[in-house]
Amino acid sequence: MPRDHLLSLRPWASPEITSWRRLPMNAVDRRSGALCLDGSWHFRLLPSPDGSPGEWTVTDVPGAWTMDGADDPPQYTNVRMPFGDFPPESPAANPTGVYERSVDIPAEWAGRRIVLQVGAAESVLLVQVNGTPAGLSKDSHLAAEFDLTDLVHPGEQATVRLTVVKWSDASHIEDQDQWWQAGLTRSVLLYATDPLHLADVTVRARQDGRLRVDCTVRDTTGPLPEGWYVTAALDGQLLAQDTEFDRRNAQDMRVSDFLGEARLRTVVPDVRTWTAETPELYGLVVRLHRADGSVADASHHRVGFRDVAIVGRDLLVNGERIFVRGVNRHDFHPLTGRTVTAEDMRADLVVLKRFGFNAVRTSHYPNDPALYDLADELGLYVVDEANIESHDHAHEIADDPRYLPAFVDRVSRMVLRDKNHPSVIIWSLGNESDYGANHDAAAGWVRRHDPTRPIQYEGAAKLDWADPALASDIACPMYAPIEDCVAHALSGRQTKPLIQCEYSHAMGNSNGTLADTWAAIESTPGLQGGFIWEFWDHGILQRVNDGRPAGRGGAGLYDSGVTAPGHRWAYGGDFGEAVHDGAFIADGVVFPDRTPKPVMYEHREIAGPVRLTYDDGVLRIHNRQHFRGLRWLAAEWRLVQADGTARSAPAALPDVLPGGSAEVPLPFPLPEPAAGEVWLTLRVTTADDEAWAPLGTEVCVPQVLLSPAVAGAPPRPASGPAVTLDEDALLVHPLLTSAPVLSLWRAPTDNDELGGMAARWHDWGLDAPARTVRKVVDVREEGSRVVVLSEYATGAGPVRHEQVFTPVTGGVRVEECAELPAGLDDVARVGTVFETVPGLDVLDWYGQGPWESYPDRSAGAFVGHHSLPVDELFTPYLRPQESGGRHGVRRFTLSAPDATGLAVELGAPAQVSVNRYRAQDLAAAAHHDELVPRPGCVVHLDAAHRGLGTASCGPDTSAGYLVAPGTHRWEWTLRVL
Ligand code: GAL
Ligand code: MG
Repeated sequence: MPRDHLLSLRPWASPEITSWRRLPMNAVDRRSGALCLDGSWHFRLLPSPDGSPGEWTVTDVPGAWTMDGADDPPQYTNVRMPFGDFPPESPAANPTGVYERSVDIPAEWAGRRIVLQVGAAESVLLVQVNGTPAGLSKDSHLAAEFDLTDLVHPGEQATVRLTVVKWSDASHIEDQDQWWQAGLTRSVLLYATDPLHLADVTVRARQDGRLRVDCTVRDTTGPLPEGWYVTAALDGQLLAQDTEFDRRNAQDMRVSDFLGEARLRTVVPDVRTWTAETPELYGLVVRLHRADGSVADASHHRVGFRDVAIVGRDLLVNGERIFVRGVNRHDFHPLTGRTVTAEDMRADLVVLKRFGFNAVRTSHYPNDPALYDLADELGLYVVDEANIESHDHAHEIADDPRYLPAFVDRVSRMVLRDKNHPSVIIWSLGNESDYGANHDAAAGWVRRHDPTRPIQYEGAAKLDWADPALASDIACPMYAPIEDCVAHALSGRQTKPLIQCEYSHAMGNSNGTLADTWAAIESTPGLQGGFIWEFWDHGILQRVNDGRPAGRGGAGLYDSGVTAPGHRWAYGGDFGEAVHDGAFIADGVVFPDRTPKPVMYEHREIAGPVRLTYDDGVLRIHNRQHFRGLRWLAAEWRLVQADGTARSAPAALPDVLPGGSAEVPLPFPLPEPAAGEVWLTLRVTTADDEAWAPLGTEVCVPQVLLSPAVAGAPPRPASGPAVTLDEDALLVHPLLTSAPVLSLWRAPTDNDELGGMAARWHDWGLDAPARTVRKVVDVREEGSRVVVLSEYATGAGPVRHEQVFTPVTGGVRVEECAELPAGLDDVARVGTVFETVPGLDVLDWYGQGPWESYPDRSAGAFVGHHSLPVDELFTPYLRPQESGGRHGVRRFTLSAPDATGLAVELGAPAQVSVNRYRAQDLAAAAHHDELVPRPGCVVHLDAAHRGLGTASCGPDTSAGYLVAPGTHRWEWTLRVL
């Protein structure tokens, strides 16, 4: 068929056409021995599939041309399609990339079967070899293979042309919330096999050591030759032929001269089972022999023995009810977009393992094949998701028979590719595509083909979390309030495991109430966890001068992230897109350079393998794992006292069984109560090298309070220097450039913006100093004390604010009281803000830390004596917003290198932040390169600070973390060092 004929089918507007001449998907690994066609290809970008060709340039394969500086930059939309055309149509302006290169076909491939494998093409792939159409494929995230045997000549050169059409009918079912990219995003291979070959290998390895290997054998030259047979060996041990299977197959006439099937089996005694905690793998080699014993084909696999089952309402791995501490992960890289290397993916998974995650949902499409190998090896459960999201036209497409082949194609090909991975424990039919007959068709195929794993699909489950008829074996809601989950588990109606497919939206400074959520999950039978949305902040490294993606050229820069001069992390709209969804693309637990956000430490602690409790004088160590003892961990005790004393001692972890606990003696005698509060911390590290962490890596830092604070006497007034106020009754102090005043507002977080809080604060005038004018009502002296009463105007009535200044030895004590009218029922903070002279660049504090923490995200920040440069306190969320806060701060100093500076003692633990920006500075900036650091410090001491919640997508913080109206009192003492 000439090229024109293929084009005249308009395959990009024909959902019924999912492929042409594409080989069936299989799980035979062909990477070794293949010819890798990655590298430099000729490239030209056409304005449409039948548009006139432009100039040839060169480009790298794999790679997205959208990330390459070509005139078709990435575009970000969430739900809405980037074009208005109704499915299955796509716009006439349809960038089309033509990739071409010549390949020397090895002479020794004469007589062999020659196959081209294109790792991924976004969104329609047309293949031509030596000018002849060779195949077509859709599904941007699965490989396509084409038999080229008849089209190429060993010993000669062949020209391979891959045409990639960006927009198509398939775009309507690839409407995932991510950047729109286009190109050849995974590797291209050419390999040869004997005509007699392994067409597929299916491995089933059970927890009890039973292993079954099913092989499909084909010969492309005709009927199978007489006498072929298959052998397999597991770590050198030969498997037995399943003769019963052969006999039955022959009897049922299931096998023919053309269809070869073989089954081998064995039972491995004392098998080392696979779990995410114990990722034990065995090596399997499958060989296809000719009658004379010579090997025609071979396939290598890594096998993990494990069972997945749903029993009652519990998901069990190897018979144990597990907690799923998951994250949603896209294939993403800030320089290459959708193209990721195995090293990139290993780095991603290593971060996840180090921060306590045990599961990944491949949102929202089958990931790069290397990811599954890594998950097998490092130990992560995988929910493997098919590439189907029709979000904008979900309802129309779910029952549209024109899309039926695509649904079954995408789900079945994913299963065929990934079925042998022990890490994959659940199949997902896709995301946000409503629910229709097309889903049931796909589910039916999976149930027949792979009865060993459950299926999940949120779009089905949401109709009724309990209905067994729906195509979801898991109740897998997204962003369900935890109270609803608990209520369902207690309702008596629950029939399926409840594991949220998405929860705790990590956009900006977020993930409030994660610890409360997990406390509910762990204490409620029926709840088993979920997948945080999401791993990546999808910021693309962008050159500010020309607005282009930095691309691979930015490699040296991206380590320095936001501070790379002339660069920034771009989000939606930054490439001049007319239609976009802004910073909603930046909602991950790691920054685009993979730096963990502070929430990661919160998660690490919540998920930690070791927990400490101290009740009624009894100290206990708990093993929170499902399968592993504590021998792989080392630990150290630390005793932290308010007076600054800190002691440490090596800790011997008891050998506690998974789920168990043991009482241990107190490692230190309890100090006298007069010494104030006493905390005991256990710093837990890896005792040996793990695949994901070298020896000594911190794993968690649980802490218990051994004895509470004793109320200290307030600082004694002194006859020292009197308090000086200026004409506005503001404190005058040599180290302050801006006097302490009342603060009720914060630079809105993404949650504050999208949850509507920022708009209310704006209505109240809290975001504009000009609208919260301070009026001094009264100033009076009472002995050495000075009392200043003022009023701040707000849209919900005046806030009365009193400051009482008392000179104390070396400084001044400030007692404050604010009365918020009933209408101000949800402000960001109530506290004090002041600014310091430049040069005080180091913060030492006693309180929670060392990482950023907020009232509803403070379980992972332990009490201690912490110290950080001021510039490192700030967290550079992609869109500047409130950040860098520290919860539970009891006292701090801000000092210069010569140890001069100021000290603040807080009457009660407070939320403190110290950084270079006023709230208004942060709120006014859209990117970090727009921020100008102030030379001094902006210091907030908050008696009350609103929780963070997750309202950008999901529940807001809970009521207990809101700042109530009425009277707030706080007290602090400022001294000069
Ligand atoms: C979910 C969706 C994700 C993402 C998230 C919000 O509804 O499945 O793809 O859009 O919300 O960030
Ligand atoms: Mg969506």
